[in-house]
Amino acid sequence: MSVLENNSVASNVVSVVPVSTTSRSYDVYVGIDLLDDAGTYIREAAGGTSAVIVCDSNVGPLYAQRVQESLARAGYAVGTVTFAAGEQHKRLCTLESILEGIAKLELSRGDVVVALGGGVTGDMAGLAAALYLRGIQVVQIPTSLLAMVDSSVGGKTAVDLAAGKNLAGAFHQPSLVIADVCCLHTLDHDLLSDSCGEVIKHGVLADPELFDSICRHPINASGYDDLGMARVVARNMEIKRDVVNADEREQGLRQTLNLGHTLGHAIEAASNYQLGHGSAVAAGLCCVARAAEALGWAEPGITRLVEAACQAHGLPTDTSLPHEVIRRYAVHDKKRHGQAVNLVVPRRIGSVFVRKTTLAELDEVIRLGCGTRRD
Ligand code: GLY
Repeated sequence: MSVLENNSVASNVVSVVPVSTTSRSYDVYVGIDLLDDAGTYIREAAGGTSAVIVCDSNVGPLYAQRVQESLARAGYAVGTVTFAAGEQHKRLCTLESILEGIAKLELSRGDVVVALGGGVTGDMAGLAAALYLRGIQVVQIPTSLLAMVDSSVGGKTAVDLAAGKNLAGAFHQPSLVIADVCCLHTLDHDLLSDSCGEVIKHGVLADPELFDSICRHPINASGYDDLGMARVVARNMEIKRDVVNADEREQGLRQTLNLGHTLGHAIEAASNYQLGHGSAVAAGLCCVARAAEALGWAEPGITRLVEAACQAHGLPTDTSLPHEVIRRYAVHDKKRHGQAVNLVVPRRIGSVFVRKTTLAELDEVIRLGCGTRRD
């Protein structure tokens, strides 16, 4: 029975977004001050007797104790596994130490891993849950905007390899997602701004109203109260939900979530990950819009709109990287299919399509889209 059916959902839950994929159905709670009730929600959604909180060294001191106490009040035996913060630690050796930590706490099949943190934590704790005893439940508690609007929903889990980001992973849907927008209060402004790249992407992908609204009221400007932020987060989660419900394993529609990512990932990797993911996606989005407009694949005027949205959030709209560098990274992207890349092309705000792009065509996209912005 879901918490909603049980009627015990608290009034500080602003929105419940039900997700229903082929492998699992679960709810996403978006709200204000939810951490103290996390144990109750997890008990009702996942059951079990033991829970392990997985968090990094930044998020642990901020929120782990509250979540731990809440889980204990709900009757769980609780432990915490903490790892060093940073994308550079999203590696197999960290995954191993998380798995050893879970094993030490003697979790069994019905028990729960609680991923408390940003995208790196969600991906690694999710993968640890997918592997431990061949799969135990994971609950995602995203604490960054990027994790709330993107990585906590949809079940992608991964670690990085020397050859590239997220190259080893599994699909493992959570049993519940709890997004407490109060966690964003402690988020560094630059990280908040960076996350807006994925929000702009969702607007271009599926929602002209969201796009228009965030252009007029940039998310990283003051003026968003918790309720306003919860509504934006919930709308983003609905957009992502609609995609993963239709295509959990990225056979078709889910590829559209890679809008801005073919060039964005290349820009991010070429910067040696110094540029944030959302900022790289914003730049990639503007570059692909410019090329699509020039090639007649997109409605005239789309570039101006996408650039304006990125500028309003202080995000980059282009890259000065040499074209051959972008090409090298873009063709090594894991989304490549033989001699073609499935490029997600914006048609107009709210509509995109996937184009099987030959490597020669990709060169043309890079030539027309990258390093060509006119101020
Ligand atoms: N972040 C893209 C996806 O979840 O498919």
